[in-house]
Amino acid sequence: MALEAQAEAMTRASFRPLAAWPRVVGHRGAAALAPENTLAGMHMAARAGARAVELDLRLAADGAVVVLHDATLERTTDGCGLARRLNLAAIRAADAGAWFGPAFAGEPVPLLSEALALARDLGLAVNLELKADRGMAVATGRAVAAALKRSRSRPKLLLSSFSPRCLAAAGEFPRALIVGRGTARAWIKTARALDAQAVHVRYALLDRVSIAALHEAGLAVGAYTVNAKPRAKMLFGLGVDYVFTDDPRRIRA
Ligand code: G3P
Ligand code: MG
Repeated sequence: MALEAQAEAMTRASFRPLAAWPRVVGHRGAAALAPENTLAGMHMAARAGARAVELDLRLAADGAVVVLHDATLERTTDGCGLARRLNLAAIRAADAGAWFGPAFAGEPVPLLSEALALARDLGLAVNLELKADRGMAVATGRAVAAALKRSRSRPKLLLSSFSPRCLAAAGEFPRALIVGRGTARAWIKTARALDAQAVHVRYALLDRVSIAALHEAGLAVGAYTVNAKPRAKMLFGLGVDYVFTDDPRRIRA
């Protein structure tokens, strides 16, 4: 076999995509269709035909793991303050749905355990993105791992984070490195050190060459956040394995 053909065969053999991970992942549930990171959003994602959702996790002051994107409550709830300074009861007192529309009034900030139970009931795979403020990476990773171990609901799971420290602290769960800048070479180095199975990349950074390099390194490639149908089509054409979208209905169509 010619050297080039041998190299190509080795490349194909070394690429181990995440087993059966869905192609369309509802971003923050289905952020264009329902309040982000809520149970209502997960229901909406499932109704829109998504078979996976991405949810953001944060640590409260008393160690509870909640589903919340920002460090503070202001943007997505009627509460205020830093989540890491508030106990679960204070976070649960906030309304995380009314800002999006009156039909969603009364939606609470979910606990991780609630999101896992609903994902199992809806048959959704879940990508849990670990968000950690400065100095909180290890505590957050450990708290998420402990909550997952305690949980009786175990949907198909993929952990991810921009923070390698946070992911490393979460232990043995399947994981993906998230990146928003840099080069494929650097992503591969970090992902390998973490024993990650995938890299989640801001879509504008991806091209055919970087996707091929990630695949050659045995990493699946997810692109965020993709809300235009032609862009999703183009990314799948380049070899992206899955996309994160606020509107799974539009991307699936
Ligand atoms: O996990 C991909 C994407 O969610 C990362 O950005 O800010 O939407 O959490 P962000
Ligand atoms: Mg996220």
